[in-house]
Amino acid sequence: MNNGQSALEASIEKRRTFAIISHPDAGKTTLTEKLLLFGGAIRLAGSVKGRKTKKYATSDWMEIEKQRGISVTSSVMQFAYKEHLINILDTPGHQDFSEDTYRTLLAADSAVMLIDAAKGVEPQTIKLFEACRLQQIPVFTFINKLDRFGKEPLDLLEEIEQVLGMRSCPLNWPIGMGYDFRGIYDRRNNQIELFKGDDEREIIPAIGSWQENTEVREFLDNTQIKQLEEEIGLLDIAGDPFDQEKIDAGKLTPVFFGSAINNFGVQTFLDQFLQLAPPPQPHKSNQGYIDPAEQGFSGFIFKIQANMDPAHRDRIAFMRICSGQFQRGMIATHARQGKKIKLSQPQQFFAQSRDIIEEACAGDIVGIYDPGIFQIGDTVYEGKPLEYEELPQFSPEYFAKVFIKEAMKQKRFYKGLKQLAEEGAVQVYKSFLNGSEDIILGVVGELQFEVFQFRLLHEYGAEVILERLPHRLARWVRGEEIKTQELKSMNSLLAKDRFGQLVVLFKNETALNWVQSKNPTLNFVTTNREP
Ligand code: G4P
Repeated sequence: MNNGQSALEASIEKRRTFAIISHPDAGKTTLTEKLLLFGGAIRLAGSVKGRKTKKYATSDWMEIEKQRGISVTSSVMQFAYKEHLINILDTPGHQDFSEDTYRTLLAADSAVMLIDAAKGVEPQTIKLFEACRLQQIPVFTFINKLDRFGKEPLDLLEEIEQVLGMRSCPLNWPIGMGYDFRGIYDRRNNQIELFKGDDEREIIPAIGSWQENTEVREFLDNTQIKQLEEEIGLLDIAGDPFDQEKIDAGKLTPVFFGSAINNFGVQTFLDQFLQLAPPPQPHKSNQGYIDPAEQGFSGFIFKIQANMDPAHRDRIAFMRICSGQFQRGMIATHARQGKKIKLSQPQQFFAQSRDIIEEACAGDIVGIYDPGIFQIGDTVYEGKPLEYEELPQFSPEYFAKVFIKEAMKQKRFYKGLKQLAEEGAVQVYKSFLNGSEDIILGVVGELQFEVFQFRLLHEYGAEVILERLPHRLARWVRGEEIKTQELKSMNSLLAKDRFGQLVVLFKNETALNWVQSKNPTLNFVTTNREP
C-alpha cells in the first residue's frame, strides 16, 4: 500500500455522512444547530435555515421559494468535530417534502431519527424510516424534548417497535421528564449527566456507584433514585442487548434521550454516534460493490437542483462520492453518455452558502455545475469503467393529469416534461387501458405540482393545466402472469412509468389491499427498483 492510498483510507475512515429524519417540529433544526455548534461551524445558533424569523431570507434562487417563504433546496453541511469529519444531509421536511427527501437518504451511510417525546412516531418519520429500511442503513434514535412532559420512555420504545417494526436498545435513560427532568443515565459508561437547565450540565463519572455520589444524592430525590434503579434493572433484564452487527444491518436502533433546545444530551449523543455509526460504505455497481478506498474516483448523482442562481439559470448536480479522491476541475467519465467531462465549479454547502472546494473524498457530497447533461442516478468515474445501480423511484402521494394550454407549444412541453422527469422533479406516467393516452404526473409532496407548473412556464415557455386525481399511492406490479383487467377495480388506474414498467395507482390502502386479495400471486411494490 502506498502513502497516498493510506492517507485516503484515513480520510475516508474519519467521515460520517448521515441524514436526520423526523416529522416537522420534532426539533431537527434545533438539533442540527447544536451539532454544528460543537464543530465550531457556526457561532450563533439560529443560523440554520428554517427558523421562523429567517424563513423569508434563506435563499432566493427561485421565485416560488420567495413567495412561499420556504426552502425548496436541501443542503449538505460539513464540519469537523474531534477527529471526525461530519456531513449532515438535510432532508426537507415541511411543505417542501418531496421525492428529493427520499433520494437524499440514498447518499447517506446512516440516519438519525428524531422523535418528539410527546408525539411519538409521526407520519413523516414513518415514511422516511421506510426509505432507510429499503437501504438497510443503520438508524439511530434521538428522543427529544424531555424537558417537556411527554410519553413514558418505555411506551416510546414499544411504539418504535409496534409502528416501525424495529427493536431498540436505549444507550441512555432519562431521569424524570418535564419539570422533573433531572438528567440522563448513560448505560454504556455507567455515568449520570445532570440537567441543570439552560445549557448547563454536569457529568458524574463512573467512579464507584452513582448511587453513592453526593452530588447525585443532592440533586435527585429518593423516589427518583429508586425509579432509576428499577428502570435500569428492567432494561438490563428485559431490553434488547447492545449488538453492533444488528445496528449495522439496520435491525436494532440505539436510542438516546435528551433536549436539543437545552443542548442537553446532544454532545453525549454525538460522541457515541460517531463511535457507532459507519464510515462511508461500499456501493453496489455493475462491477460489484465498490470499496470507498479504491484508488479511482467515482460517484453518483442523487439530486439535481435547477436555477439556484436566478441570474444564470444553472443547474447543480449533487454527487455522492463513493470512492477515491475528487479534485476540482478533474476530467472524469460520464458513464451513461460514455463521454469525458470536466467537473468544474465543485461546491460544498454550508447551510445556505456555497463555497468552491478544491478536493473531497469518498463519503462527501459535492455540488457540480451541470450544463444539462446529468440525470438522477448518473455515474461519474475515473479509471476503471463502472456504473452504480439506478436509483429507485418512490411511490408518489399525489397525482394529476396534465394538459397543455396551447397546442402550438407541444414541443416545449414535451422537452420540459422529459427534463423535469430526468431531474427527478416529478414522475411521469402514461395512463394505460383507460381508452386515452393521458399524461399523469406523480409527486411525493404537493408543492411539487406548483414548482412543476412554474418551471414549465418560466423555463420552457409552456403553460399547463393540472387536473388533480384522487389517487394516493402507486405500486409497481411484480408477478409471472399479470392480467391487467383484473387490476382494474376500486377505481384503480393503470399506467406505465417512463421506463415502461406497469404501475397501478390506488385511491387508498383499502383499494390496494382489495386488489391484492384478488390477485394473490402478484406483488405490489413501493419502488420501481424492488424485485
Ligand atoms: P423542525 O426543524 O423539526 O421543524 O423543528 P425545530 O427545530 O424548528 O423545533 C420546533 C419547535 O420545537 C421549536 O419551537 C423549538 O424551539 C422546539 N424545540 C426543539 N427542541 C426542543 C426541546 O428539546 N425542548 C423543547 N421544549 N422544545 C424544543 P417553536 O416555538 O415552534 O419555535 P421557536 O420560536 O422556538 O423557534
